[in-house]
Amino acid sequence: MVNKMITNTTPETELERLFQAKIDAEQKIEPKDWMPDAYRQNLIRQMSQHAHSEVIGMQPEGNWITRAPSLRRKAVLLSKVQDEAGHGLYLYSATETLGISRAEMITALQTGTAKYASIFNYPTQTWGDMGAIGWLVDGAAICNQVSLQRTSYGPYARSMIRICKEESFHQRQGYQIMIELAHGTPAQKDMAQDSLNRFYWPSLMMFGPHDSESAHSARSMKWKIKRETNDDLRQKFIDQTVSQINYLGLEHPDKALEWNEERGHYDSSDLDWDEFYSVINGNGHCNRQRIQHHVKAHEDGAWVREATAAYNLKKEQRLARDAA
Ligand code: ACO
Repeated sequence: MVNKMITNTTPETELERLFQAKIDAEQKIEPKDWMPDAYRQNLIRQMSQHAHSEVIGMQPEGNWITRAPSLRRKAVLLSKVQDEAGHGLYLYSATETLGISRAEMITALQTGTAKYASIFNYPTQTWGDMGAIGWLVDGAAICNQVSLQRTSYGPYARSMIRICKEESFHQRQGYQIMIELAHGTPAQKDMAQDSLNRFYWPSLMMFGPHDSESAHSARSMKWKIKRETNDDLRQKFIDQTVSQINYLGLEHPDKALEWNEERGHYDSSDLDWDEFYSVINGNGHCNRQRIQHHVKAHEDGAWVREATAAYNLKKEQRLARDAA
């Protein structure tokens, strides 16, 4: 255990050395521990963007709740979308332990200073997209989040454990929709192929830019905020998806995909990085619509926040009166 006594007079360089030693020894950093400000800010950035992604991610699927093909499918989709709201809540709460308020995070999202996952700026055009999102988007999210269960910040790591369990269920429900469509009528199979073709590439973009272009990776890896790099995780996802596409009997969207014996991985086409940067900079198909919808929902919900605050105040006053 790295457990040296830290006092008010411990010099900054010694604090940083102890902090890094703790991380290297795989001990978790907890909210009240000393941490460099850059570590705190980097975590606030990544965790709040992660929380925003969960919440904004409710919109593309929410679009299909009223149009799900059966009552069972409606119930499943509804509870999946509710799970995503829960993930947002755990992550906002975990981020608040770093000294930022929920209101500040929401303002950053709504004013465009904080990002959210690029994938949620693509429209959901068919029921097949519900299958592709569960299978590919949640599948890519799990690939990343399994490694984040070992992230160095305790509250983030712990929230990831529960989130991964739920995301695994989401991935299976999406894949099950794909199995039904891919083994259904020719029109259903076409629908599944079309959804795969549209969501495959944006799913690969979820892992972020190439490592060589990633602004935060080097420091995040040193601090074990990130445990695997963008390119390594993307490769893992590409490799695992091949047999899933084969099982569905669908065509792989990447015509250049080829097994590389030497690397022990598939070689694949490069992504359209102009599209990626355009989407993360606010110019995807649905960026404006997603934020406008979020602002409206937030404003419509103001009365709930006010009622909760009034109720809490009343409760505190009653407790204070009883204690007097
Ligand atoms: N969508 C939107 N923005 C992205 C994406 C993406 N797919 N990939 C990278 N970016 C942004 C980064 O947030 C960063 O922007 P910023 O400096 O304004 O914050 C910039 O592009 C540069 O990228 P990196 O330096 O590689 O950023 P980082 O080290 O944070 O890696 C990653 C990006 C892999 C997404 C990381 O933040 C991460 O693992 N986040 C947690 C997981 C997460 O957010 N998942 C959302 C999944 S959706 C879901 O859960 C259903």
